[in-house]
Parts: sequence; C-alpha cells; structure tokens
Amino acid sequence: MTAPIDHQTRYAQRRARLASQLGEGGIAIVPTAPLRLRNRDSEYPFRFDSYFYYLTGFGEPNAWLVLTAEGRTTLFCQPKDPEREIWDGYRLGPQAAVAALGVDEAYSVDELDARLPPLLENRHAVWYPFATHAGLESRIDGWLHKVRARVRHGVLCPEALRDLCQPLDEMRLIKDDHELDLMRRAARASARAHARAMQRCAAMLRAGEDVREYHLEAELLHEFRRSGAQSPAYGSIVAAGANACVLHYRADTAAVRAGDLVLIDAGCELDGYASDITRTFPANGRFTGPQRDLYELVQAAQQAAIDATRPGARFADAHDAAVRVLAQGLLDLGVLNRNDVGHTDDVIEKRQYFRFYMHRTGHWLGLDVHDVGSYVEPTEAGQVCERRDPLSGEVIRERPSRILRPGMVLTIEPGLYIRPAEDVPERFWNMGLRIEDDAVVTDDGCELITRGVPVDPDAIEALMQG
Ligand code: GLY
Ligand code: MN
Ligand code: MN
Repeated sequence: MTAPIDHQTRYAQRRARLASQLGEGGIAIVPTAPLRLRNRDSEYPFRFDSYFYYLTGFGEPNAWLVLTAEGRTTLFCQPKDPEREIWDGYRLGPQAAVAALGVDEAYSVDELDARLPPLLENRHAVWYPFATHAGLESRIDGWLHKVRARVRHGVLCPEALRDLCQPLDEMRLIKDDHELDLMRRAARASARAHARAMQRCAAMLRAGEDVREYHLEAELLHEFRRSGAQSPAYGSIVAAGANACVLHYRADTAAVRAGDLVLIDAGCELDGYASDITRTFPANGRFTGPQRDLYELVQAAQQAAIDATRPGARFADAHDAAVRVLAQGLLDLGVLNRNDVGHTDDVIEKRQYFRFYMHRTGHWLGLDVHDVGSYVEPTEAGQVCERRDPLSGEVIRERPSRILRPGMVLTIEPGLYIRPAEDVPERFWNMGLRIEDDAVVTDDGCELITRGVPVDPDAIEALMQG
C-alpha cells in the first residue's frame, strides 16, 4: 500500500509529468474556460476547462497556468477584491494560491498580457491546446509579436507552436486511483438516480398520477444533488415510447404511459468527473413480450461487448461483438427478414443492422462525458486500411483501433431503435432501447461501476414493484 498523496502533490505530479514531455525550451499555456453570458448580465453556470482542472484542481474562472519544460509553474488568477467577493463569492487570490495550489508563483490575471511575453522569450516551442479556446491563437500571436519586437535586443522568439492536447490526452486517458475513486462515486450516484426514477415512475402510475418525462428528470436531478454531484454531466435524455427512437431527445413534456418503454440516459458530474448511464424499462414495471424480446437481445449484445473489454483487446472489439449479437438477434426475432438479407455475416458485412443500430458501442469517459484520448493505437497510426462503406459507397480510411490498457474508462452502450416500417413486424414499432454502463479496464477484464442500478429484466421488474 502506498500512502495516499495530498491534493497539492497530485496536481504537482501531473504538471511534472507534462513538463517532462515539452522538450528542451518548451513552455505550455493552459487557460481555464471563459465565463459565458446567458442574457444581459446573467451568466451560465461556470464549468472550468478540463485540461486546466486536471493540472491544477483549481475551479475559479479567469485563470491561466503557464508551465515550462524545467517544471516552473506560474498561475494567473483573479485578484482579491473585497467588493466583488461580496457579490460573486470568495476568491483564492495570487498570494494564497502559491501555497494552496503548490505553484511556484502566482499573479493577478490582470498582469497576464504584461507577463506573458517575457515568459515566452528565448523559449523554443509554445505548447497550448489547439482548437479548444476561441481567440487563444490570436492572444498568443499578440504575445509573440511583443517578443519579436525585442529581437534587436538579442531576444530569441519561439520557432514552433505545438498542440498540448496530444500529451495531455494520453495522460488523461489512463485514470489514476484518485480519478477512479471519483468516477466510482459519480457512477454510484447516477445509479441511485436511475433506480429512483424507475421506482417513482411505476409508483406514480400505480397511484393514477399523470407522469411526464420531466417528472422523471426531476427525480434524477434530486438524487444527483442529494449525492453531492454539482450538475448533470450532459443533457438528460428521458424519452417515453417512440421518443426513444430520437437519439438526442431531451427530457420534455410527453406523457409516460403504462405499456410504454422509457429510455433514460443520464449521469451526474461529481467533482469534475462524468458518469453516463442508460436504462430502458417498462413504465409500469412489467415488460410486454415484444419489449422483453428486444430488451434481452440488447442485454446479450451488451454482455458480449463487456466480455470483449479487457486489456490487450481493441477498443473496436466491443462494438464488433455487440453488432454480431444484434445482427443474429434481429434475424431470429424477424425484425430483419432472412429471405431479404441472408445470414448474420451478410447482415454485418452489408451493415443491414445499421437502420436499427446507428451509433458506436462506447466512448472514453472521464472529466468529459465524451472524454479525450485517441481511438487509434498510437504505435500503429501509420497503418491505414481502405474499405468502401456498403451503405454510402464512401471510401473509409481506417487505422488500427486502440489497444485497451488498465485504467482506461469507457462506456458500453449498445441499443436498438425500431421505427415503423412495412418490412418490420408491427409489434416492434416505435421501440427504442439502450443499455449503457461505465467500465474501468482492469488487469484481467473490466469493472462495471454503474451496476448499482440493475440491468437484468427480472431485477428491473422486481425493483419497480412496490
Ligand atoms: N449520453 C451521451 C452518450 O451516451 O454518449
Ligand atoms: Mn449516455
Ligand atoms: Mn455514452
């Protein structure tokens, strides 16, 4: 057992790891997210930039981190201001920031434009996250302009701009113990929220109440905040009946009726980390025959994807495993007609499942719900394979999928979305189903951290009874 490390050391270690990758004479600039106006003088709730937070643990707006390859860290933050603090709340301030965040020096953000050019003098490369902050490039250009104005005094101007996302994304892709601990807490809170929404849905219908999608969203939000989560990690989907076939549907006003399936895709963000769960359940707590048939098929597809999620396997293996089970099941249930489409291999090769399953089976999860990290194995990025998409005719250039390693976190989320169509049996029309869990890749497989809410259809029915 290693002793737990303190807050400051954790972030200092991350900064040191990043600094060691900047190359001789490198310097990195990382702003946090901007405050955004909603209208007039009302702001959207502030959410820090994930890269900035990963390196500092500092959640205030108007802050920047500057880091040199030698490991020297400078923070720019809001100055203390008793008057503003009455309105907006406590500010750490530069003086306290040095000790609180373990940086070498800290200044007011008002000094940023004056202090940045000297910091960039005589450096070789300037690193910053490309294409993530509107206006950052021109800001850096302005600082470089000031450096260049001093070349006659013997100052050297940086000769390279480098994308900081590249090393940072690789670091963020493998979660450390502290991150995994937060992600497990977020996952547990979200699982409780799903269980609560399921139970309340059935109870309200039993009591003869009018149930709307927003009532179930309210149950989710209640449980998120009750658990200490700061906000949802993304817009909650609560989709009753046919609405579940709209992939980016948001909780709206539709009535939830006994006999409908309800699809909820919702997860909280807790101390910066996202969770992402989908459950599909019968509104009144009892699956009909066709609902259960489709549900058990999606469940089997998810289990195949889970079994394919282990170190050494590829990211794409889970998707391929899920697609194979779905293709076979669609034939077995008669959703796809064997006489029209042939065998499972044909369905896969010609992507005939695609009209019912049109998204990927997962994504990285972390500070962001669709987290950073390359889906291509870096050591094999040069191996390009071309194939023609059977549906669109488009030529697709593929590179080898990422090899999974312990500490990666991803979602596993197969689904089926069946819109009315003449060639599809009517008993399946307007059903949309997805089952989504969050998985940590372990030494010998994966750990599902969201199973605090059941997936098994019998367990869902039991949960929703009384
Ligand atoms: N809720 C977003 C997703 O499942 O990817
Ligand atoms: Mn989701
Ligand atoms: Mn997801």
